Amino acid sequence: MSHPLRIGIIFSGRGSNMKALLDHIQAKPDTYTLANLICNKPQAIGISVAKAQGFNTTIIDHTRFDTKTDFETEISNELSSANVDIICLAGFMRILSAEFVRKWDGRIINIHPSLLPAYKGLNTHQRAIDDGAQWHGCTVHYVVADMDAGEIITQTRVQVKKDDTAETLAERVLNVEHKTFCDGLDLAAIAYRENKRTKE
Ligand code: GRF
Repeated sequence: MSHPLRIGIIFSGRGSNMKALLDHIQAKPDTYTLANLICNKPQAIGISVAKAQGFNTTIIDHTRFDTKTDFETEISNELSSANVDIICLAGFMRILSAEFVRKWDGRIINIHPSLLPAYKGLNTHQRAIDDGAQWHGCTVHYVVADMDAGEIITQTRVQVKKDDTAETLAERVLNVEHKTFCDGLDLAAIAYRENKRTKE
């Protein structure tokens, strides 16, 4: 039996996806172990959510760094020293540089609140409503240098209702994000182990 994969999670805000991943990791101790939990915002609600579950968060406040490169170097060092296998971006609201992404190529996954390739970027729910889209949802994908453009791992569809506002739609999408992210991690973990085996 191979060792549990070491998972790093990076978040910026309320951390509901981060919590779903923590629950998933705790429920599968033979498959996963939490290597590192990183947040770039010292006031993020998710920090106390993690604490309540017994996990400390490493705070790497991007405003403390002169350059993005310095900020990312600090994150990279944290991840490397924790021997991270797979990195989950769980509502991490900074765009990572091409250099960072290359360094961790094929090992970073992200959850995005739309059915990619539709609605990359922000305000996805309002844009779907404005377009009269019938279907919306969320996507777990690999992170590449181009924003929200990496290979899709899994998606869940949510039907847009006639009277939906951005808020009601966001809430229904968030409800399915949590399971989708855990499923996406499971698929990425299988691919990661396969890939490692092929290289060895
Ligand atoms: C989620 O909607 C996620 O798809 C997006 O940012 C939001 C984060 O929410 N990337 P939470 O912090 O996980 O609750």
